[in-house]
Amino acid sequence: MTSSSARPARPSDAPATPTPTAAASGRASGKAILLGEHAVVYRRPALAIPLSALQVRADVLRSNGPSVLHSDLYDGPLAAAPARLGPTVTAAAAALDALGVADESIELRIASNLPAERGVGSSAAVAAAVVRAVAAAFGGALDAAAEHELIQRAERVAHVSPSGLDAHAVRAGAPIWFEDGAVSPVTVATPLTFVVADTGIAGRTREAVAGVRTRHDEDPRGTTALLDELGELTRDARTHLATGDARALGAAMDRGHAALGLLGVGDPALDALAAAARAHGAWGAKLTGGGRGGCVLVLSRDDESAAEVAGALRAAGAAATWTTTVEATT
Ligand code: PMV
Repeated sequence: MTSSSARPARPSDAPATPTPTAAASGRASGKAILLGEHAVVYRRPALAIPLSALQVRADVLRSNGPSVLHSDLYDGPLAAAPARLGPTVTAAAAALDALGVADESIELRIASNLPAERGVGSSAAVAAAVVRAVAAAFGGALDAAAEHELIQRAERVAHVSPSGLDAHAVRAGAPIWFEDGAVSPVTVATPLTFVVADTGIAGRTREAVAGVRTRHDEDPRGTTALLDELGELTRDARTHLATGDARALGAAMDRGHAALGLLGVGDPALDALAAAARAHGAWGAKLTGGGRGGCVLVLSRDDESAAEVAGALRAAGAAATWTTTVEATT
């Protein structure tokens, strides 16, 4: 068949959604909550830092068949994805809908080195990367508020009444202060090196948040006192960041860990890792995220001692450790 026998292309022959050869990408990073988890659900402030070593990348190709997902957790039609991928499916559908292309099909590929269910923001980071990739694939511009709301839709599937902290933190790239639904930047006087250590136990944010709710219903006065203490510690931590007082910041983290334990979201494995970090000279250590498993966040004295503390944490049973430096802003 020669090329001359081919029908000339007419505009009406063009597919409604031409498939580009290159995928459109979206990215987001992990986060650790420095102070304020759980209390933030009750309108106290929270502080979060980025974990840039932990990254999610989503790639989206427009396609003509049924939408499919390729990931380490699942490979197959998006419509048949297992329940634990509900937030991912929701993020893709919500983004298509918001862009006015709800009927379009996509091939979605997710690559992530964030451990799921460890309190480092995996569900929000995946949702953010997916929303961004879908927007890039369909050439639609989503402003920050629209992006946030789409991630929140996915987060509501993950844990019912998310404060919105994670949805901001995974897109921030810098420490953030979160209060009354709004974020603001944080002043950091000196660089600080943190180590995150994974207990290897899946955190259960949904159950932990429900447990705090039950505790609040049963003992409103005692629970409010703990939430107030966490709120104060978070405000103190912001001051210590601004003045460069790492020792005081570490002490606030230790007290935060104790208050979260009293709130009922601790775990012996978290206590053991926090104790190991303190025994190896860390300024402070606390659980981070929903708790009942997941990770501890450790403030080390400097880069050198961070390596030593990370080794000690692995020797104490941590499944993995990551080190991150929060740079000074002044
Ligand atoms: O476990 P994560 O990473 O999803 O963090 C949950 C943080 C909470 O404060 C416990 C819940 C929330 O909605 O902010």
